[in-house]
Amino acid sequence: MSMLLEIRRLSVALPAGSEREFAVQDVSIAVPRGQTVCVVGESGSGKSVTANAVMRLLQKNVLRVADGEIFFEGRDLLKLDAAAMRTLRRLAHGYDFPGAHDCAESGHDGGGSDR
Ligand SMILES: Nc1ncnc2c1ncn2[C@@H]1O[C@H](COP(=O)(O)OP(=O)(O)OP(=O)(O)O)[C@@H](O)[C@H]1O
Ligand SMILES: [Mg+2]
Repeated sequence: MSMLLEIRRLSVALPAGSEREFAVQDVSIAVPRGQTVCVVGESGSGKSVTANAVMRLLQKNVLRVADGEIFFEGRDLLKLDAAAMRTLRRLAHGYDFPGAHDCAESGHDGGGSDR
């Protein structure tokens, strides 16, 4: 079955000196087209960080994708340029994320996420 979304062996690093090296380590999730996948886990287990990594909305200079790949409709999201990523977010959600214009890639240095 073709996958709509595939997260392959994703690791997201925390800043140096944090109590742990990774916020998310070696996570793989496949979402088949037309299906819903629920991610369940205790508070702090990395659900939001994983989702934000998919949307490329990790807090800039704090959280960093250290390893892994994320494919959406066959496209490697971690390699898309910022404009293509913004278009994809709008298509996926029907709106632009709050603060998404206040970022380095849109020409402002808002210190926001790696958008
Ligand atoms: N901006 C950040 N700076 C430093 N650490 C962070 C940041 N965001 C998340 N973390 C850390 O990453 C880990 C995963 O957090 P995350 O928010 O993804 O958990 P969660 O599963 O969504 O929890 P909850 O169920 O409470 O929403 C936690 O240890 C958290 O402290
Ligand atoms: Mg959360």
